[in-house]
Amino acid sequence: MRIDRIEARAISDSRGRPTVEVILHAGTLRAMASVPSGKSTGSHEAVELRAADGGVMKVLGNITGEIASELAARDFSTPDALDGFLVDLDGTPDKARLGANAILAVSIASQRLFAEVDGVPLWKAIEKRGGFAAAPPQLYVNLINGGAHANFRLPFQEHMLVCKGKTSEAFAIVRTAFAKLGARLGDVPMGDEGGYAPVFDTLEKPFELLASLVDEYPRTRIAIDAAANELRANAGYDLLGKHLKPTQLAQVYEGLAAHFPLHSIEDPFSEDASADFAYLTDALRGECLVVGDDFTATNPLRIERAAREQAINAVLIKPNQIGSVKEAIEAVCITRSYGWEPICSHRSGETMDTFIADFAYGVGAHGIKAGGFAQKERIAKYERLLEIEREAAE
Ligand code: PGA
Ligand code: ZN
Repeated sequence: MRIDRIEARAISDSRGRPTVEVILHAGTLRAMASVPSGKSTGSHEAVELRAADGGVMKVLGNITGEIASELAARDFSTPDALDGFLVDLDGTPDKARLGANAILAVSIASQRLFAEVDGVPLWKAIEKRGGFAAAPPQLYVNLINGGAHANFRLPFQEHMLVCKGKTSEAFAIVRTAFAKLGARLGDVPMGDEGGYAPVFDTLEKPFELLASLVDEYPRTRIAIDAAANELRANAGYDLLGKHLKPTQLAQVYEGLAAHFPLHSIEDPFSEDASADFAYLTDALRGECLVVGDDFTATNPLRIERAAREQAINAVLIKPNQIGSVKEAIEAVCITRSYGWEPICSHRSGETMDTFIADFAYGVGAHGIKAGGFAQKERIAKYERLLEIEREAAE
């Protein structure tokens, strides 16, 4: 396949910040993609190129200039060949030259073109590409936003309900639970990821509220993203005005796991605190998953290091942390090779692109984080999963 022409433009993400959208043309075929953007970004992520004012004009120039002309000069027989070429063309370990946002947008849109050529749905193409067994991921729905996504009204960034089973059934359950919680909370602000952002004076309050929903809907459990990298202070962590040493924070998690139906804890410590991750993973073994996000940054090398240190047992997979579909698929494969669970995730700054839904289904992920129901960019991902459920039944 030869990509003859690329259009690129800036669109607004769910926070109103500019991000990249591309349209690839190959003969009579065309495919679009746009890329999300994080706020609690770890320092080990691939580089999202932006100007000081947040603008993406330079990235758009990289796409319509160098990337477009290099691709137009070549034929690619597989999406892996195309992604590999883009990674080599950039030439840096973190995609700092052309921008991970440039490379990922082209990588996603070209995967769509390859699927179109093969006449299969996107999730099917991803399933085939990685040799996976496609399956519906559990829904990790963000009900209560905190941390950097809600001006730190609560310390932990995400309090989620995880629901297993058929997407249509899980979606209906959590949507009802979401509305019930809204009625209980009354008039509260909303956070960046489309969940409620109330103020509580105890750490336990959101867990109590979600636990009462779990009682009502037994197919659900609680998951949190502590995003503890954002809570770092003086060799420890600040939570609700208290300073905690890592060992004290570990005790907080152990207490929460003992009292509440907790399914997983993401980023319980800062991005390089391997020994603390390893302690908690061991302490909660069999009880609750410990998930790496900023800690692993969807980076095969960091996942392998985490495995040597036995630091976690689940990995968040965010394609834009690494910057190409090829490497995101490798990250899933490496995660599985250690017997760990991949959980695919959107970012807090999202677009209407639903690639992550096809990706999560295609790789048969343990779960998908796609936010709360108060934002169209989040609902679009759930709607796409519902559509995939119908496609898969055909
Ligand atoms: P981010 O948050 O997209 O702002 O990084 C999501 C997460 O930490 O999982
Ligand atoms: Zn996270």
